Amino acid sequence: MHQKREKVDLELTPRITMMMENEKMNFSKKKVLIAYFSKKGENWYLNGLTDLAKGNTEIFAETIAKLTGGDLFEIEAKKAYPDSYKECCDVAKDEYKAKARPELLNHHEAKDYDVIFVGWPCWWGTMPMPVYTWLEEVNRLSGKIAIPFETNEGSGWGKGEKDFALELKEAKVMPGLQMRGHEVKTAEASIKKWLENL
Ligand SMILES: Cc1cc2nc3c(=O)[nH]c(=O)nc-3n(C[C@H](O)[C@H](O)[C@H](O)COP(=O)(O)O)c2cc1C
Repeated sequence: MHQKREKVDLELTPRITMMMENEKMNFSKKKVLIAYFSKKGENWYLNGLTDLAKGNTEIFAETIAKLTGGDLFEIEAKKAYPDSYKECCDVAKDEYKAKARPELLNHHEAKDYDVIFVGWPCWWGTMPMPVYTWLEEVNRLSGKIAIPFETNEGSGWGKGEKDFALELKEAKVMPGLQMRGHEVKTAEASIKKWLENL
């Protein structure tokens, strides 16, 4: 009796381990795209305005690409946003209120990818409108695995994570990661940990 149970346990163990491994994302076996919107130039950083040579969300996106081997795609509006933080805030607020869908500079169908990370800076508590444009262009990533990431300077996700899931009703949305923009440069270890837990 005792012997029989031990045999069953031994048989089950490798199968359970395999199941657990399968539940985790194996990025090396998947086609990964990292689509992101980011604004370089004057921006809010820690406690004041700073001129950013590279946007925080772009650094975040590049770190994900480095760790997953994925391809990068920058979501850019055809009409560039003002360099000035204040002017950009005004334009972004008008677009937000109008539920605008700014035309994009480049297009990417995301068709050949299994996993699509989508990243943005928190603008007025949600995604910048060009991100909405892109999500509509790619059929709201229907049938894909979608993973959000976001930078902000105090609002956390705001409504962004919820709005993202609402847009992507037909995608499998995985747990995202948000952080303060000024922390991104030193966040590789926490980004790695998040990826390993997906
Ligand atoms: C138009 C605009 C609106 C913003 N709105 C918010 C906000 O509502 N909450 C917040 O925490 N940060 C807000 N920020 C700050 C950015 O989210 C933050 O600086 C972010 O890290 C910038 O990322 P990026 O360099 O990739 O554009 C805003 C910045 C801009 C330019």
